Amino acid sequence: MSAAPKEQPAGKLWGGRFDRAPDELFYQFQRSFAFDRRLLPYELAVDRVWAHALESAGILTIEEMRDTLTTLDKIAERATSDPAWLDISPAEDVHHFVETALVEYLGPLGFKLHTGRSRNELVATDFRMFVKEAAHEMLAAVARLISALVGQAERALGIPMPGMTHMQHAQPILFSHFLLAHAEAFFRDTVRLDAAAATADACPMGSGALAGCALDVDRGAIARELGFARPTANSLDAASDRDFALDYLYALAVIATHLSRLSEDFVLFASQEFGFIVLPDEFSTGSSLMPQKKNPDAWELLRGKTGRVTASLHTLLATLKGLPSSYQRDLQEDKEPVFAAHDQAVAMLAVAAGAVAATRPNEARMREAASDPALLATEAAHYLVRRGAPFRHAHEIVGQIVREAERLGKPFSALPLETLCKFSPLFAADFYGALNLDAALAGPDVAGGTAPGRVREAVMAAKQRLAALQVKP
Ligand code: ARG
Repeated sequence: MSAAPKEQPAGKLWGGRFDRAPDELFYQFQRSFAFDRRLLPYELAVDRVWAHALESAGILTIEEMRDTLTTLDKIAERATSDPAWLDISPAEDVHHFVETALVEYLGPLGFKLHTGRSRNELVATDFRMFVKEAAHEMLAAVARLISALVGQAERALGIPMPGMTHMQHAQPILFSHFLLAHAEAFFRDTVRLDAAAATADACPMGSGALAGCALDVDRGAIARELGFARPTANSLDAASDRDFALDYLYALAVIATHLSRLSEDFVLFASQEFGFIVLPDEFSTGSSLMPQKKNPDAWELLRGKTGRVTASLHTLLATLKGLPSSYQRDLQEDKEPVFAAHDQAVAMLAVAAGAVAATRPNEARMREAASDPALLATEAAHYLVRRGAPFRHAHEIVGQIVREAERLGKPFSALPLETLCKFSPLFAADFYGALNLDAALAGPDVAGGTAPGRVREAVMAAKQRLAALQVKP
């Protein structure tokens, strides 16, 4: 059995109705300062605004407010210059830490700031401020990856590659079109990040523990001063709500999933079987045994770390499932998955951006693979369609020709005209000229298609959209 301390290690947040102090083991178990200290800058910002609100409500005199504000500045300064101060603090959580420090500097006045408010609304407010800022940081990280993809797409304009479905050769596309497809997914991620920041953009302060504040405070002004778009609409909901954290984790989980797809493509493309890209030395590793190896570890780790980010979303969903309304201590479990997923995603995006920018396309290999005549089978069907055949029949005819060519052990494009005419009288000598890679690429000349002119336009459009993203420097 662990010994019970005489009193809580660092001043009291509660305890009037208790005979005995908490068990030391339990005290350590319920502490959150080790991770919620990350919320300290937001906590201090809320405290400053709350000091003003208490002065307006007649709880603090002007001098008391000034002393409190000066001390909050001192705490902020010391926390930055002397991080060990936080390391050795026995505080229960970030709210307790600030209160203890205020009392240390100010004596009993230090206790006054926690008038008319609850840690329930404080933690919800701090955490919302964190998520808003985190989403902006993430937006910048996503923008850097998009920029790397678009830059590569611009440099690679004109390089054909085999487009695949089911990992089977399907139709030729441009390598730039492939890169822009990935960029498009990350563009959508920016919308999800904005949405998460928008759900977080309501200020709980003034909600009290659950019922609202009994003092005359201006919730609209408090929200504004803290940079929120609005105060929350219902005090009970404000204590319970962690949707903003779920929204952020969902946005991160989708980003990670997109990164894993990009990773898988690049791992395959770097393999000897494909050889479409050359792995950059800076983002690859060697084997301790096999001297020839250059491994796509950056991409493999990105693919592998995706699980951590998606798991964070599952973790918070599992925490929230079945909770009743209002604040429950379970909610303290909300922060670690968000911090972990955020840090992981920032690192993943930075590595992905670096690796994309440093990768070199192997044009010769891609062109050779894209020149597989099988990729032109759809073009052959279109040739028959242009000569009046219904597409269904054209598809059937070309399918039979491909099978015959396979039997003869040749590409279908090498069969002589007389053989082709046995399958359809619509074939003529111009068929062979029509059947080429450039024609196939030029075919899908629609917005969003792989025709070279369209892809060039898409590169330009992506650059403009990138410039228009609201990315903070
Ligand atoms: N450390 C707590 C958390 O992160 C702060 C709120 C505690 N509130 C309470 N009523 N025990 O959730």
